[in-house]
Amino acid sequence: MSDETNPSDASPDAVATAEQPPPAPAPAAGAPAAPQPPEPPHTKAATDGTIAEAVALLKAGELVAFPTETVYGLGADASNAEAVAKIFKAKGRPANHPVIVHVASGEDIDAFAREIPEVARKLARQFWPGPLTLVLKRAEGVPDAVTGGQDTVAIRVPSHPVAQALLAAFGGGIAAPSANKFGRVSPTTAEHVGADFGRSIALILDGGAAQVGIESTIVDLSGEAPRLLRPGGVPAAAIEQVLGEPLAVPDEEAPRAPGRHSTHYAPRAHVKLMRRREMIEALGSHKGRRVATLALEVTMPRLAPTLQRVLPAVAAKYAHELYTSLRALDATGADVIFVEQPPQTPGWAAVNDRLRRAAGSVVTPDAT
Ligand code: TXA
Ligand code: MG
Repeated sequence: MSDETNPSDASPDAVATAEQPPPAPAPAAGAPAAPQPPEPPHTKAATDGTIAEAVALLKAGELVAFPTETVYGLGADASNAEAVAKIFKAKGRPANHPVIVHVASGEDIDAFAREIPEVARKLARQFWPGPLTLVLKRAEGVPDAVTGGQDTVAIRVPSHPVAQALLAAFGGGIAAPSANKFGRVSPTTAEHVGADFGRSIALILDGGAAQVGIESTIVDLSGEAPRLLRPGGVPAAAIEQVLGEPLAVPDEEAPRAPGRHSTHYAPRAHVKLMRRREMIEALGSHKGRRVATLALEVTMPRLAPTLQRVLPAVAAKYAHELYTSLRALDATGADVIFVEQPPQTPGWAAVNDRLRRAAGSVVTPDAT
């Protein structure tokens, strides 16, 4: 219920002037209320003042969305199980899916993890702050709500200056998944977060567009050998170089990572990965379907500019724009998005992973 003054509450002797039109007549009892325009989300530019406000909200057990260099996160106090539970409710995400704990510095991980192997320190020194998440054995006292009840915890030190300032001012761990509804495309701007959540979260800190654009790389160090659970912002090859050994790929024993579900990054439209020639042929024969395209370098012929996006054939630049482009093309109401297949080389691994997931299923508008 809105807390705005209802026109029907105006005092009976209120005088209507030319500048101030008379209040609309109160609806008759039982009549449906006039439709209200949706209220804008609580989005504020990140400043010292709004970061202090965010800290107070987090301490009070509320949710705050904040920018990281990968994607925006939906944060809650990691030490407050009830606050973390709100994340799952807001996202529509199953409660047994673990979330990443964000901390200000690599020195803070001992509060959340135990039996930390030397390789973890080594990777932390090399890649933190940055788009790498480490899965470690969890320390006592880390709420089950954070770990999904598992004996491991995922931790990351983000490099975004707003995330850094927020974590430093908060002084603890912030549990945060990507700030999108479950199964939807991750947000890379404050606007994306607002579009998914409206006013259902206490505050969205706006720190501009996320630089990396896709999520962190997740490496599991809780078992015998380091395993790559999710390709992401840090290339696997760079991690392998520091480790001095190849990363194992996940097996059935690996900790659960919902990001590995095929529908996890999907837009509403059906996504089809194709070669350029196939796209052009299909565009000529797509009777009755509204088609949008995401191409590499060169625009698609005979398609309205509003229905297409063209991205650079440079993996980091492509990643930076991928989710914004998918969201924009999805918003055109297209039934299908043809995506030109990027090169199948290691430098494109994280992008190809997200595209494969997006193409993995048809997601209807009301899916969560
Ligand atoms: O870049 C990112 O990682 C972003 C930003 C906000 O930091 N976060 C993000 O969170 O992508 P989320 O929840 O959307 O994806 C995190 C992934 C999930 O697939 C989750 O299952 C996995 O990390 N994860 C979390 N804790 C884990 C654990 N203990 N063991 C294995 N996987 C875990
Ligand atoms: Mg996510």
